[in-house]
Amino acid sequence: MTPLPDPFTRALRRRDSLRADGQTDALRLLDGAGDGLSFAGLYLDDFAGRWLVQTTRPGQEPPGFLRALTGPGPDAPRSVYWKPLDARDQHQRPPGQWAGEPVEAPFTIHENGLAYRIDFQGGYSQGLFLDQRDNRLALRRRMNPGGAVLNCFAYTCAFSVAAAAGGARTVSVDLSRRSLDWGRENFRLNGFDPDEGDAHRFLAGDVFDALQRLARRGERFDTIILDPPTFARDRKGRVFRVADDFGTLAALAAPLLTADGALLCSSNARSLTAPGFRQMILTALPAAPRDWQVTPAPMPADFTGDSYLQAAWFSKRS
Ligand SMILES: C[S@@+](CC[C@H](N)C(=O)[O-])C[C@H]1O[C@@H](n2cnc3c(N)ncnc32)[C@H](O)[C@@H]1O
Repeated sequence: MTPLPDPFTRALRRRDSLRADGQTDALRLLDGAGDGLSFAGLYLDDFAGRWLVQTTRPGQEPPGFLRALTGPGPDAPRSVYWKPLDARDQHQRPPGQWAGEPVEAPFTIHENGLAYRIDFQGGYSQGLFLDQRDNRLALRRRMNPGGAVLNCFAYTCAFSVAAAAGGARTVSVDLSRRSLDWGRENFRLNGFDPDEGDAHRFLAGDVFDALQRLARRGERFDTIILDPPTFARDRKGRVFRVADDFGTLAALAAPLLTADGALLCSSNARSLTAPGFRQMILTALPAAPRDWQVTPAPMPADFTGDSYLQAAWFSKRS
């Protein structure tokens, strides 16, 4: 067998502790230059033995040793898929098979003991953003039984499932019905019935409209998740840009919090700095900045490269 390059072996060993308890089988194995200069521009995620390579440089391909590694074996992938990312490419393409067996059907991964459905054919995103793993766990641990969580821009409802596992009631809002159906499936995978009673609600529609509607009804939440895309256009053609509109979003959400509630604000807009992000939100929130406690939410340890995700808890001081 072709020997594995040392930086790759080191990258795998560095992550051993993240799966040591047997509760997590989806994580980032290579995070660009964070795992060695030879990996600059290259990202490798393990979804329970199906590996996904993303390359970001023109002409860049997955490293050949991955092909040789694919097959049976404890550290070996059964499949390797490849998604070249090109900032100029407006078409959101799913990854293509590059080595090993085809992945034709959706499959299940586990994260801290919770199950999530992944689909390599599902479009540009595969169903779970691995860089939010620690935030999902933090959310789950914060929950008191019966607490209420509002998950805005819910996508496949991964945050909602984590909150439900902590005993919370959840409301998930997303423009995409298809994503919410995927979310319902994620609930079922974990033994929660998404259609029973009103413990878990799924609202298909615009987050800005939903926040105003929920506020008019007097609904209150212990935690609100705000993790929007960097740029989006809704069905009415309205444009959302994190850099311009996150403050408005936070200001709309804040009145829906309980007296000691918290917002989890998160963005992967690379133009943002941590102080700029924090300031943008604090200046938009009702009440003075000193009335909010801000706790940064760092990225998971397997994300060794750029710290591109800005995330923080904004808790009301009661
Ligand atoms: C980057 S994903 C969010 C990821 C999600 N927070 C998670 O942790 O899995 C963006 C999602 O926002 C949704 N979306 C975009 N604009 C929206 C809007 N104005 N209202 C509701 N959902 C929106 C998209 O349909 C998509 O599912």
